[in-house]
Amino acid sequence: MVKPILIKEKIKPFNKKIFVNGDKSLSIRWALMASQAIGKSRAYNILKSEDVKSALKCLNTLGIKSVFKKDYCEINGDGINSFKFKKNLVLNAGNSGTVGRLLLALLIRSPYKIKLIGDKSLSKRDFSRVITPLKYFGAKFYPNNKTTLPIYIQGTDSLKPIDYYEKKGSAQVKSCVMLAALNISGETKIIAKKSRDHTEILFKHLKIPLKVKKTKNLDYIKVKGLKNFKSFNYNIPSDISSSSFFIVLTTLAQKSSLVIKNVNINPSRIGVISILKMMNAKIKLKKIKNYKGEKIADIYVKSSNSLKSINCPIKFNSSAIDEFLIIFLVAAKAKGVSYFKNLSELDQKESPRLKLGSKILNMMGIKTILTKHSIKIFGNPNLQIKKNIEIKDYLLDHRVFMMSTIAALSFGNIWKINNPESINTSFPSFLKIIKKIGGKIK
Ligand code: S3P
Repeated sequence: MVKPILIKEKIKPFNKKIFVNGDKSLSIRWALMASQAIGKSRAYNILKSEDVKSALKCLNTLGIKSVFKKDYCEINGDGINSFKFKKNLVLNAGNSGTVGRLLLALLIRSPYKIKLIGDKSLSKRDFSRVITPLKYFGAKFYPNNKTTLPIYIQGTDSLKPIDYYEKKGSAQVKSCVMLAALNISGETKIIAKKSRDHTEILFKHLKIPLKVKKTKNLDYIKVKGLKNFKSFNYNIPSDISSSSFFIVLTTLAQKSSLVIKNVNINPSRIGVISILKMMNAKIKLKKIKNYKGEKIADIYVKSSNSLKSINCPIKFNSSAIDEFLIIFLVAAKAKGVSYFKNLSELDQKESPRLKLGSKILNMMGIKTILTKHSIKIFGNPNLQIKKNIEIKDYLLDHRVFMMSTIAALSFGNIWKINNPESINTSFPSFLKIIKKIGGKIK
């Protein structure tokens, strides 16, 4: 166990330019898709974090090797359904719901039972959301009716395409169904509530037979399977979820400004920017460009001293799902009562984030009203933290650690925050960048 960090003072005004680590969703998708492509694929700026390592280790167990060179990671794929399935394989998805749920889709032709395990946090999370559609395709799961890891999956060669209605607004579920469809002859149809669309964009880029019709609330997706695709190189842009911690730190700091270079600003990911702008944050996107269907930009942020509360429209829930903890800190300083609703999915993440977010705000002296699916936050623009605060290692959740660090640097007083190693899950250079912009951490 690494020692907790100690923060004793607010961050001083800063004016900096930073790069954050590569996008996690894209890094994991690149690895999984490269494993199904024919030939050598390379990813530049791949996120070197525990979640991505879990994906690469699982692929290695399935006979797909990855090699790290100075500038890139290379995977040599042999086409769809080319994994070397063996008896008694065990795959460990670590902390990553995305790895566990997307990988299962690629196992649905395994003639042998494969065991999928994860860490303590992942073993508490719901897998019925992907087990259900994969069973419709024809895969079998053991023990029967178990909905959490560890579980065993056994595939078959007699799979059928399905029609599936994805009602949670979960990109992991949607992507799981799409990846499974790759392995199956015929057309799989998905009606999906809005969620991040990296898998659709990548399928299009790889010329996989895909049709997408977008309406206001739902996307109609059709995938035709069993068409091999060529290897591909990918230059992974920076992660908006990682950037968000610094967007909020700058927003809450005094007289500061920050530029975050080359960030993926896919419209299905930037709920955080829409929400913060509605609260009067000063954020601008510049040098917007298109990269293989993804949108990329430099993000310019300035401190704001007129933050106002928000009744957050639920249309932003999916596109800001990983950012609510950090958005809650802005609500803590905003004038008025903010209201975030229909957010029960937040308690399905690496830790129960809705509950924990509320608890941390209460420790800071902010009043909240919490229900199973909503939170009201009574903002205080003059917030002075009066008690010393200790943040425990709540299921080792990386985003709880990073949110607490930003709170300490923004609101001051003495904070002891456990579990700094959790940043290795998604954002290994988090503390280095904090120090670079002047944050004092012991
Ligand atoms: C992800 C989707 C989201 C998100 C997760 C990454 C992805 O989960 O919380 O961190 O890469 O598809 P859900 O799709 O389950 O909401």
